Amino acid sequence: MSEARWSAVDAYIADVVVRPAAALEAALRDSEAAGLPAIAVSPAYGKLLMLLARACRARRVLEIGTLGGYSTIWLAAGIPPDGRVVTLELEPKHAAIARVNLDRAGVGERVDIRIGPAATTLQALGAGGAEPFDLVFIDADKEGYPIYLELVIPLCRAGALIVADNVVRDGRVADADSTDPQVIGIRKFNAMLADDPRFDATIIQTVGIKKYDGFALAVVA
Ligand code: SAH
Ligand code: DHB
Ligand code: MG
Repeated sequence: MSEARWSAVDAYIADVVVRPAAALEAALRDSEAAGLPAIAVSPAYGKLLMLLARACRARRVLEIGTLGGYSTIWLAAGIPPDGRVVTLELEPKHAAIARVNLDRAGVGERVDIRIGPAATTLQALGAGGAEPFDLVFIDADKEGYPIYLELVIPLCRAGALIVADNVVRDGRVADADSTDPQVIGIRKFNAMLADDPRFDATIIQTVGIKKYDGFALAVVA
Protein backbone atom coordinates (compact mmCIF):
# COMPACT_ATOMS: atom_id res chain seq x y z
CA MET A 1 0.00 0.00 0.00
CA SER A 2 1.26 3.46 -0.91
CA GLU A 3 2.15 6.51 1.13
CA ALA A 4 -0.49 8.42 -0.86
CA ARG A 5 -3.10 6.02 0.49
CA TRP A 6 -1.87 6.44 4.07
CA SER A 7 -2.04 10.22 3.68
CA ALA A 8 -5.53 10.09 2.17
CA VAL A 9 -6.75 8.03 5.12
CA ASP A 10 -5.06 10.41 7.59
CA ALA A 11 -6.92 13.28 5.89
CA TYR A 12 -10.15 11.30 6.17
CA ILE A 13 -9.51 10.60 9.88
CA ALA A 14 -8.73 14.26 10.55
CA ASP A 15 -11.98 15.19 8.82
CA VAL A 16 -14.29 12.63 10.33
CA VAL A 17 -13.16 12.36 13.93
CA VAL A 18 -10.36 14.78 14.85
CA ARG A 19 -11.63 18.09 13.48
CA PRO A 20 -8.73 20.16 14.78
CA ALA A 21 -9.53 23.67 16.01
CA ALA A 22 -8.49 26.59 13.79
CA ALA A 23 -5.69 27.51 16.22
CA LEU A 24 -4.10 24.09 15.69
CA GLU A 25 -4.13 24.52 11.90
CA ALA A 26 -2.72 28.01 12.35
CA ALA A 27 0.07 26.67 14.57
CA LEU A 28 1.19 24.29 11.83
CA ARG A 29 0.89 26.93 9.11
CA ASP A 30 2.89 29.57 11.00
CA SER A 31 5.51 27.05 12.15
CA GLU A 32 6.10 26.05 8.55
CA ALA A 33 6.13 29.68 7.38
CA ALA A 34 8.85 30.37 9.98
CA GLY A 35 10.95 27.56 8.50
CA LEU A 36 10.44 24.94 11.21
CA PRO A 37 10.58 21.32 9.97
CA ALA A 38 7.19 19.63 9.34
CA ILE A 39 7.75 16.99 12.02
CA ALA A 40 4.92 17.75 14.46
CA VAL A 41 2.65 14.84 15.30
CA SER A 42 -0.32 14.23 12.98
CA PRO A 43 -3.79 15.53 13.93
CA ALA A 44 -4.97 12.02 14.90
CA TYR A 45 -1.86 11.50 17.04
CA GLY A 46 -2.28 14.92 18.65
CA LYS A 47 -5.82 14.02 19.58
CA LEU A 48 -4.60 10.72 20.99
CA LEU A 49 -2.28 12.68 23.29
CA MET A 50 -5.20 14.83 24.43
CA LEU A 51 -7.37 11.77 25.07
CA LEU A 52 -4.60 10.00 27.00
CA ALA A 53 -4.18 13.09 29.18
CA ARG A 54 -7.92 13.14 29.83
CA ALA A 55 -8.17 9.39 30.40
CA CYS A 56 -5.47 9.43 33.08
CA ARG A 57 -6.87 12.67 34.51
CA ALA A 58 -3.47 14.24 34.12
CA ARG A 59 -2.90 17.57 35.87
CA ARG A 60 0.83 17.79 35.24
CA VAL A 61 2.34 16.91 31.87
CA LEU A 62 6.00 16.94 30.86
CA GLU A 63 6.94 17.23 27.18
CA ILE A 64 10.47 16.90 25.81
CA GLY A 65 10.69 18.58 22.37
CA THR A 66 8.31 21.52 21.83
CA LEU A 67 9.03 22.60 18.23
CA GLY A 68 6.18 25.03 17.37
CA GLY A 69 3.94 23.76 20.16
CA TYR A 70 1.52 21.70 18.05
CA SER A 71 1.60 18.61 20.29
CA THR A 72 1.82 20.95 23.29
CA ILE A 73 -1.54 22.53 22.39
CA TRP A 74 -3.15 19.09 22.23
CA LEU A 75 -1.63 18.04 25.58
CA ALA A 76 -2.69 21.30 27.24
CA ALA A 77 -6.24 20.81 25.92
CA GLY A 78 -6.36 17.48 27.78
CA ILE A 79 -5.70 18.90 31.25
CA PRO A 80 -7.79 21.22 33.46
CA PRO A 81 -7.21 25.00 33.23
CA ASP A 82 -5.27 24.96 36.51
CA GLY A 83 -3.08 22.06 35.33
CA ARG A 84 0.40 22.52 33.88
CA VAL A 85 2.36 21.42 30.84
CA VAL A 86 6.11 21.85 31.23
CA THR A 87 7.69 21.59 27.77
CA LEU A 88 11.43 21.49 27.09
CA GLU A 89 13.00 22.97 23.95
CA LEU A 90 16.61 23.49 22.91
CA GLU A 91 16.03 26.18 20.26
CA PRO A 92 14.95 29.66 21.42
CA LYS A 93 13.46 30.29 17.96
CA HIS A 94 11.18 27.24 18.25
CA ALA A 95 10.17 28.26 21.77
CA ALA A 96 9.25 31.77 20.60
CA ILE A 97 7.02 30.43 17.83
CA ALA A 98 5.46 27.92 20.23
CA ARG A 99 4.66 30.72 22.69
CA VAL A 100 2.66 32.62 20.06
CA ASN A 101 0.88 29.43 18.92
CA LEU A 102 -0.01 28.40 22.50
CA ASP A 103 -1.33 31.85 23.43
CA ARG A 104 -3.47 32.02 20.29
CA ALA A 105 -4.88 28.58 21.11
CA GLY A 106 -5.97 29.89 24.52
CA VAL A 107 -3.82 27.49 26.56
CA GLY A 108 -0.72 29.66 27.02
CA GLU A 109 -1.32 30.24 30.72
CA ARG A 110 -1.06 26.56 31.54
CA VAL A 111 2.18 25.98 29.58
CA ASP A 112 5.67 26.59 30.85
CA ILE A 113 8.35 26.48 28.09
CA ARG A 114 11.87 25.81 29.39
CA ILE A 115 14.61 26.65 26.91
CA GLY A 116 17.86 24.67 26.93
CA PRO A 117 19.21 21.14 26.51
CA ALA A 118 16.54 18.81 27.88
CA ALA A 119 18.96 16.76 30.00
CA THR A 120 20.05 19.91 31.86
CA THR A 121 16.47 21.06 32.41
CA LEU A 122 15.40 17.60 33.60
CA GLN A 123 18.24 17.59 36.13
CA ALA A 124 17.16 21.04 37.33
CA LEU A 125 13.54 19.89 37.65
CA GLY A 126 14.71 16.95 39.78
CA ALA A 127 16.92 19.13 41.98
CA GLY A 128 14.14 21.70 42.35
CA GLY A 129 11.72 19.12 43.76
CA ALA A 130 9.11 19.67 41.04
CA GLU A 131 5.68 18.17 41.71
CA PRO A 132 5.42 14.75 40.06
CA PHE A 133 4.14 14.40 36.49
CA ASP A 134 1.19 12.25 35.45
CA LEU A 135 2.06 12.03 31.75
CA VAL A 136 5.33 12.42 29.85
CA PHE A 137 5.71 12.84 26.09
CA ILE A 138 9.25 12.28 24.77
CA ASP A 139 9.79 13.71 21.26
CA ALA A 140 13.20 15.44 21.09
CA ASP A 141 16.55 14.23 19.66
CA LYS A 142 16.47 10.43 19.38
CA GLU A 143 20.04 9.99 20.65
CA GLY A 144 18.91 11.51 23.94
CA TYR A 145 15.97 9.17 24.63
CA PRO A 146 17.89 6.79 26.98
CA ILE A 147 19.16 9.59 29.20
CA TYR A 148 15.77 11.34 29.14
CA LEU A 149 14.09 8.15 30.29
CA GLU A 150 16.55 7.79 33.16
CA LEU A 151 16.04 11.41 34.25
CA VAL A 152 12.26 11.29 33.88
CA ILE A 153 11.65 8.30 36.21
CA PRO A 154 12.19 10.22 39.47
CA LEU A 155 9.91 13.01 38.17
CA CYS A 156 6.93 10.69 37.65
CA ARG A 157 4.23 9.66 40.06
CA ALA A 158 3.53 5.92 40.41
CA GLY A 159 1.21 4.94 37.57
CA ALA A 160 2.33 7.76 35.29
CA LEU A 161 2.14 7.23 31.54
CA ILE A 162 5.12 7.72 29.24
CA VAL A 163 4.60 8.18 25.49
CA ALA A 164 7.64 8.29 23.20
CA ASP A 165 7.45 9.27 19.51
CA ASN A 166 9.51 7.94 16.59
CA VAL A 167 10.51 4.57 18.00
CA VAL A 168 10.11 2.68 14.71
CA ARG A 169 11.74 5.02 12.16
CA ASP A 170 10.74 3.40 8.87
CA GLY A 171 11.37 0.01 10.43
CA ARG A 172 15.06 0.73 10.86
CA VAL A 173 14.66 0.07 14.61
CA ALA A 174 14.58 -3.67 13.87
CA ASP A 175 18.12 -3.50 12.45
CA ALA A 176 20.34 -4.71 15.28
CA ASP A 177 23.50 -3.85 13.31
CA SER A 178 22.53 -0.25 12.56
CA THR A 179 25.29 2.31 13.03
CA ASP A 180 22.84 5.25 12.88
CA PRO A 181 23.11 7.02 16.26
CA GLN A 182 19.36 7.73 16.22
CA VAL A 183 18.51 4.06 15.70
CA ILE A 184 21.03 3.05 18.35
CA GLY A 185 19.48 5.56 20.77
CA ILE A 186 15.95 4.34 20.09
CA ARG A 187 16.95 0.68 20.39
CA LYS A 188 18.59 1.37 23.74
CA PHE A 189 15.49 3.27 24.88
CA ASN A 190 13.16 0.45 23.86
CA ALA A 191 15.37 -2.10 25.60
CA MET A 192 15.32 0.00 28.79
CA LEU A 193 11.51 0.06 28.70
CA ALA A 194 11.47 -3.70 28.24
CA ASP A 195 14.13 -4.70 30.76
CA ASP A 196 13.54 -2.30 33.64
CA PRO A 197 10.92 -3.72 36.03
CA ARG A 198 9.75 -0.16 36.76
CA PHE A 199 8.06 -0.09 33.32
CA ASP A 200 5.38 -2.06 31.57
CA ALA A 201 5.47 -1.10 27.90
CA THR A 202 4.37 -1.71 24.35
CA ILE A 203 5.21 -0.26 20.93
CA ILE A 204 2.66 0.50 18.22
CA GLN A 205 3.64 0.95 14.55
CA THR A 206 1.92 3.77 12.65
CA VAL A 207 1.53 4.92 9.05
CA GLY A 208 0.03 8.17 7.75
CA ILE A 209 1.10 11.68 6.82
CA LYS A 210 4.27 11.13 8.88
CA LYS A 211 5.03 7.97 6.87
CA TYR A 212 6.01 4.79 8.70
CA ASP A 213 6.95 5.18 12.35
CA GLY A 214 5.53 4.33 15.75
CA PHE A 215 5.26 5.20 19.41
CA ALA A 216 6.03 3.52 22.70
CA LEU A 217 3.58 3.55 25.58
CA ALA A 218 4.72 2.69 29.10
CA VAL A 219 3.26 2.77 32.59
CA VAL A 220 5.65 3.59 35.43
CA ALA A 221 5.41 1.26 38.43
N1 SAH B 1 6.54 17.58 19.87
C1 SAH B 1 6.56 18.42 18.68
C2 SAH B 1 7.66 18.03 17.72
C3 SAH B 1 9.05 18.05 18.35
S1 SAH B 1 10.33 18.01 17.12
C4 SAH B 1 5.20 18.27 17.99
O1 SAH B 1 4.78 17.13 17.79
O2 SAH B 1 4.57 19.29 17.65
C5 SAH B 1 11.73 17.85 18.12
C6 SAH B 1 12.12 19.13 18.91
O3 SAH B 1 13.11 18.75 19.85
C7 SAH B 1 12.75 20.21 18.03
O4 SAH B 1 12.09 21.45 18.23
C8 SAH B 1 14.18 20.30 18.52
O5 SAH B 1 14.72 21.61 18.50
C9 SAH B 1 14.04 19.80 19.95
N2 SAH B 1 15.29 19.29 20.51
C10 SAH B 1 16.30 18.66 19.85
N3 SAH B 1 17.31 18.37 20.70
C11 SAH B 1 16.91 18.80 21.93
C12 SAH B 1 17.51 18.82 23.22
N4 SAH B 1 18.73 18.30 23.43
N5 SAH B 1 16.83 19.36 24.24
C13 SAH B 1 15.59 19.89 24.04
N6 SAH B 1 14.98 19.92 22.86
C14 SAH B 1 15.63 19.39 21.80
C1 DHB C 1 11.61 13.49 12.64
C2 DHB C 1 10.30 13.19 13.01
C3 DHB C 1 9.89 13.42 14.30
O1 DHB C 1 8.61 13.13 14.72
C4 DHB C 1 10.76 13.94 15.23
O2 DHB C 1 10.30 14.13 16.49
C5 DHB C 1 12.06 14.26 14.88
C6 DHB C 1 12.48 14.02 13.57
C7 DHB C 1 12.05 13.25 11.25
O3 DHB C 1 11.27 12.70 10.48
O4 DHB C 1 13.19 13.59 10.95
MG1 MG D 1 8.45 13.12 16.78
